[in-house]
This record gives sequence, C-alpha cells and structure tokens, in this order.
Amino acid sequence: MGLEKLIPLINKLMTVFHTVDGAPPIELPQIVVVGSQSSGKSSVIENIVGRDFLPRGAGIVTRRPLILQLIHRTSDSSSESEWGEFDHVPDKKFFDFQEIKSEIERETDRVTGRTKAVAATPILLKIFSPNVLNLTLVDLPGITKVPLADQPADIERQIREMIEIYIKSPKALILAITPGNIDLANSDAIKLARKWDPEGDRTLGVITKLDLLDRGTDATDVLLNRVIPLKLGYVGVINRSQDPISPPASGHIVPCFIQSAFNHHPIITTHPPRPQDINTGKTIRDALEAEQRFFQTHPAYRSFADRCGTPFLAGTLNTLLIAHIRNCLPELRMRVQTQLAECQGQLCALGSELDGNKGQLCALGSELDGNKTALLLRLLNQFSANFCG
Ligand code: GDP
Ligand code: NA
Ligand code: MG
Repeated sequence: MGLEKLIPLINKLMTVFHTVDGAPPIELPQIVVVGSQSSGKSSVIENIVGRDFLPRGAGIVTRRPLILQLIHRTSDSSSESEWGEFDHVPDKKFFDFQEIKSEIERETDRVTGRTKAVAATPILLKIFSPNVLNLTLVDLPGITKVPLADQPADIERQIREMIEIYIKSPKALILAITPGNIDLANSDAIKLARKWDPEGDRTLGVITKLDLLDRGTDATDVLLNRVIPLKLGYVGVINRSQDPISPPASGHIVPCFIQSAFNHHPIITTHPPRPQDINTGKTIRDALEAEQRFFQTHPAYRSFADRCGTPFLAGTLNTLLIAHIRNCLPELRMRVQTQLAECQGQLCALGSELDGNKGQLCALGSELDGNKTALLLRLLNQFSANFCG
C-alpha cells in the first residue's frame, strides 16, 4: 500500500477527529537523520520530500539543525499550491525552492558567520503542500572528528550534543546514515543510534553511495542485516552526486534523481515550467531508472533488488508510519467513546432544563451520537482492515 492511500485516509481521520474534540488524532513520529559529515543526510531528506531545496555538498554544509515541518493542505485549483515559510522570515511565502535553499544558507551564515562553525539554534522551515503527510524531519550537522582551522577544538562534542537532543526522544525515528564505502563497525550513525536506542526499536539503517564502492567489493552482508543487525534492517540507496557527470567508480552509471515518498508527482512546479525544470524532470526520470537498473543488474544486489533503492526506503517509512498509527488505534477508540458519553450527558442535561422534552431530546441525542459513532467506528474499522492486516 502506497502513501497515496495513506495520505487521504489520515487526513480524513484528522478532519473527523477535529470536529469531534479539536485535537489531532495522531502525532506522527519525528524523523531524525544522523551520520557523519557528507554521508548523505541532506540528500536523503530531499528524496523523502521530493524537492530540491537543501544545501548539500562535500564538507560541512549543514551547520545548524533544520527542523522541517511538512504540513498537509487541501489542494485547490490555484497554481501556487506548494510553498515554504521560515520562522525567522515572518509573512513571506517562498514559492521558489531554490530561494528556500539560499535562505537556509543565508540564515546559517548569519549566526555562524562564513566560517565552518556550527550553532545549536535550529532553523525552522514549514513546507505546505497537498502531497505531504503532517510529519517533521530533522536535518543535522554531521559528526566530524578533526577540527578544521576555523572550528573550535571541541567541535565533535558540540555536534554530538546537538544530535542527542533530537534522538533521545522515544518518539524520534532515527535514520542512521552510513556511506557504503566505509566499514559499518566504524559508523558514527550506528554508534550514536545504539546509545539512545539500544534495542534498535526505532533505528532504520540507510546505506548511501553504493555507486562509489571499489570494483569487486559490495555491501551485501550489511544490506542483508548480517553485520550489525537492526530490528528494522538496512536499505541501500543511491543519492544524486554533486557532479552529474562524475565517472562511477564501479563502472556503473551514476544515477542522479529525486524520488519522493510523500509526493507521487515527483516535481510540481508552482510557476510555469522553466527550461531547467523540464531538464531536471528528464534527469529525475533517467536517474530513477538508472538506480533501479544499478540494483537489478548488479551481480551482488540483483537477487534482492526489490528491497533496495529510494522507492523501497519510502515504502519502509510508510510501513513504519502505519505501524505507529496502528498502535494509536486503541486510544482513538477510547477518545470516540469518551466524547460520545460527554455529548450524551450534555443533551440529557439540556433535556432536564426544558423538562417536558427531556425524553425526546435524550432519544434524539442517542440517535445523533449513534450516527456519529457509527461513522467513526466505520472509519476506524476501515482503517484497521486496510492497514492492520
Ligand atoms: P550530508 O553532509 O550528510 O548532509 O551529505 P550531503 O547530502 O550534503 O551529501 C554530501 C555529498 O555527497 C554531496 O555532494 C552529494 O551529492 C553526495 N552524495 C550523497 N549521497 C550520494 C550517493 O549515494 N552517491 C553519490 N555518488 N554521491 C552522493
Ligand atoms: Na556535507
Ligand atoms: Mg547535510
């Protein structure tokens, strides 16, 4: 089951519950990416969102935490249906995602200077779109070992503390990013995740840069969960490389793509298409195919190619979200019942006041509540049937 079915169903639940008691029915977990510097964290987040809007690159590019809130809005016919808003820029809607990227860079430099220093104060960015679930993603600076000339000596500790603020929450889902071309035993992401999630209940391993492995080596044992087993396992992906025509180390084509977990139209232009949008669109399609072709034809990966790649990562996140929602269902049922009892009580009290009509009003109340219960329970049952097997 794809997110295209999950999104409307959750939104229906949200709407119904909003009219019942005004509180959101389900709080989706916050997804936090951790890993060493340049392991591909920002790239993975972009792929999940399906838009190109984060500063990426070699070296320490992400220097402040970015809390990215995806906010679902009902689509309307207007062309400007998708935009970003920063906490630090009041009253401005950013429709151009390249401008969002520049603003993140500008706001990072404003606090840290044009140095390689980091700052713990997060940048808050909201993205409004008809194609997302209400979900929070956190992009973080990468763990670095050796301070650069203009970095403080304790840079590693500073960054670790910054990351731990986000991953210690039991509600956080940790995406532990490790490049395929380093030894998993040395993975900073796995080490940090284990510290805060020792049972591995909420850590999903992501192996990037599989296109950069030396010829004759592969990450099969890691991907098949044989090296450092995680309950949720590992997914191998290939993100876009910075240089679209850099030669691949393995002799395979270097894919270059955006694939979205939450956005089944990979590119939505909020302005009339510009030539570069069209070019990008073609690149994305090509790159998606190239990633798929890479896994399907690679002698080491082809036997489990259906469990590799960005679409599979998106599907895995989907499954985890559904499991989370399933765990919320008993509480949702309780809330429905409590609301009904309260509603019934109020109607009967009103009936007492009007005295003669008491019986009638209570009867009317039962009938109305009955209908509402029926609707909500039908919805919950439909949900359980669809998602809970
Ligand atoms: P971060 O520092 O962890 O956020 O990493 P970035 O997402 O900024 O990526 C660092 C660099 O590695 C960028 O130039 C990316 O384009 C590149 N990169 C990330 N993932 C991959 C991958 O799977 N394959 C290749 N070839 N390059 C990648
Ligand atoms: Na980087
Ligand atoms: Mg980054």
